[in-house]
Amino acid sequence: MDRRLEGARVLLGVCGGIAAYKMASLTSALVQHGATVDVIMTPEAERFVGPLTFSSLTARPVYTSLWDAPERIPHIRLVREAQAILVAPATANTIAKLAHGIADDLLTTALLAARVPVAIAPAMNTAMYEHPATIENLTTLRARGYEVVEPERGFLAERESGVGRLASEERLFEALALGVARRTSLAGLRVAITAGPTREAFDPIRFVSNASTGATGIALAREAALRGADVTLLLGPTQLEPPFGVRTLRFTTAEQLHALALDHAVGSDITIATAAVADWRPAERAESKRKKSDDDLLVRMVRNPDVLAELGARKGATFLVGFAAETDDHEANAREKLARKHLDAIVVNDVRDERGFGPGENTLALLWSGGRRDLGTAEKSLLAARLLDELIALRENR
Ligand code: CTP
Repeated sequence: MDRRLEGARVLLGVCGGIAAYKMASLTSALVQHGATVDVIMTPEAERFVGPLTFSSLTARPVYTSLWDAPERIPHIRLVREAQAILVAPATANTIAKLAHGIADDLLTTALLAARVPVAIAPAMNTAMYEHPATIENLTTLRARGYEVVEPERGFLAERESGVGRLASEERLFEALALGVARRTSLAGLRVAITAGPTREAFDPIRFVSNASTGATGIALAREAALRGADVTLLLGPTQLEPPFGVRTLRFTTAEQLHALALDHAVGSDITIATAAVADWRPAERAESKRKKSDDDLLVRMVRNPDVLAELGARKGATFLVGFAAETDDHEANAREKLARKHLDAIVVNDVRDERGFGPGENTLALLWSGGRRDLGTAEKSLLAARLLDELIALRENR
């Protein structure tokens, strides 16, 4: 018997589609596999199946409204207790609301508050599924890290055949099992992440910096927190917001990052250095704004500490991962850094033509002493999940 859900807490969101009746069978299977199952139904779902069906199967109350017992704040409590969430059948309406942050019933409110893996299993008429709005909304959700369990082709309620049938019970079960595994994959581990650029000032208003926005490190911090890690994010100057639930400490200069890293990254279980640290800083910082003159300005630059190399020298049991921003000879350069800084793995980021900076897509490859894995081109949130999967496997086989 599959034991992956034994003792797990899962939350099912049932929307108003004819496939809602199939969720009774899935609920029963989940309970038989040892999971504790909470069910939220939308008001429309109640037209297809009664809450009593689910409460009988789960031996727990079923939630249908924000207003049943508002003093218990059900939308927050339910998502905090769950390790993984499955929305099935997910209607075009609920998918659209989720993609746009609309929270007008218990399910959509709970989903907005969720910080655990969420799988979405659409089921609807083929034309609705293939409508550009639905396609775009699902693309948005995938890019944000939601798992979309694709519907199947088959006989639909309209008595015609097409794409839009709810995925099989086995695939829905699998999506929840993977969600719970993801949620617990870093449980109890301390993860430190450096992210963003540094700014090295040569007068009170001018500085030397670079194009980093910290997007990759922020995505990794969010994904690590979602997987149950105790995350510390050391974040440089950026307009991007650090993730909710992550301890974030700010730096401006390489020297400040250096001090923070020695305090907060040494001794962690996993450290990932994505920060784009200036290798040099101006030797002098003028107290007042430098006035222009007709002469050229010469700013002498001195070396900054190599934060990652120092973490490598104090590595202990930490699994240490660096990033290499490369424009040429990617693999050779990255492997040289892997060895020199005593890293367990290094991620190569191709930054030709300013690629790889800012939110959006990126192309990454992971290198370690025994091999290489291409992580492909994808949204940074998806790459963060793929990268952590690989790092967890590498660390376990170390
Ligand atoms: N790094 C650091 N402190 C520095 C410089 C870099 O912690 N002063 C880290 C970065 O966060 C990254 C890795 O080291 O994880 C990059 O190594 P580095 O040798 O600086 O490579 P590049 O920045 O790619 O630069 P270069 O090719 O010029 O060596």
